[in-house]
Amino acid sequence: MEEIKNELLQSAVPPLLAWYRIHKRDLPWRHSRTPYTALVAELMLQQTRVEAVKERYVRFLRSFPSPEALAAASEEEVLKLWEGLGYYSRARNLHKAAKIIARDGFPSDFRGVRALPGVGDYTAGAVCSIALGLPEPAVDGNVLRILSRLYADGSNIDEAATKARYAQLLREVYPEETADFCEALMELGAIVCVPNGAPACASCPWSAVCRAHLAGTEELFPVRAQKRARRVVQAEVLVLRCGGRYALEKRPPKGLLAGLWQFPFFEGSAPDLGKAVRQKRAKHIFTHVEWQMTGKLVDVCAFLQPYTWVTARELRELYALPSAFRPFLEWVE
Ligand code: ADE
Repeated sequence: MEEIKNELLQSAVPPLLAWYRIHKRDLPWRHSRTPYTALVAELMLQQTRVEAVKERYVRFLRSFPSPEALAAASEEEVLKLWEGLGYYSRARNLHKAAKIIARDGFPSDFRGVRALPGVGDYTAGAVCSIALGLPEPAVDGNVLRILSRLYADGSNIDEAATKARYAQLLREVYPEETADFCEALMELGAIVCVPNGAPACASCPWSAVCRAHLAGTEELFPVRAQKRARRVVQAEVLVLRCGGRYALEKRPPKGLLAGLWQFPFFEGSAPDLGKAVRQKRAKHIFTHVEWQMTGKLVDVCAFLQPYTWVTARELRELYALPSAFRPFLEWVE
């Protein structure tokens, strides 16, 4: 059975590469590549949309063009340049990885890349394929989806065994052009074999071989585990204003948005520090939690402790404020 499966995937490689060379998107990390820039791109792209990454990738590399430059930066500077990308532990891990790379050089094999902070199997596979010329598969949600349609198999793509099996099948057919192959798989999932709505089978290089398409069942795949419902947290967020300064506090060192700056944030209700001059509701969705926030702009007449009081300009230029709080930034001027 495995033999037959692999014939299918083998026959899918040449049309995929040919298609990719014509249709690939012009993305900043595809212009010039070193192992370091590939690592930056792949860490930014973890669970984050390409559109959100493009500009920040360019800006980040302008500030930190080499692992040495990044290693020499402060954590605040790194977080500031990561602002809005979410999952900030990635930024801290990248910073740690840069220190290791600046000291020891870039690792030369999968094990070495995989051992860098913040690098899992997927990111290690992508960096190895894209920047080191190694045939190491990178299997993310996109790749799981396109393979589950190609094979029209009912395996649950949320199971580790499915991922391992697909990784092995890919490893066996990896062509010489490791970078193009890796990114072509991602690209097919991103622009043709899309997750929501109907896939664009009419323009797919696999339309002649894809079992789901041939059977007209592409929308039945991938098979997924049931999602757990997100926990909903009600919170109040105070934008405290005093003499042109605004109160910030740091989030706890563990958990969601660990150690990042925020406006004073209270699960449930905030203490009464005065009448709100503005008020609005906003929500923010994380992977496992949804915040339903009521923001209040409150004028206070003292620099209350334990907050850090910053000007609007300092907030813009020096403090990384997670996107969850962006709805309330319109009150800061
Ligand atoms: N998603 C993850 N890595 C990517 C890459 N190199 N190009 C496009 N999308 C991606």
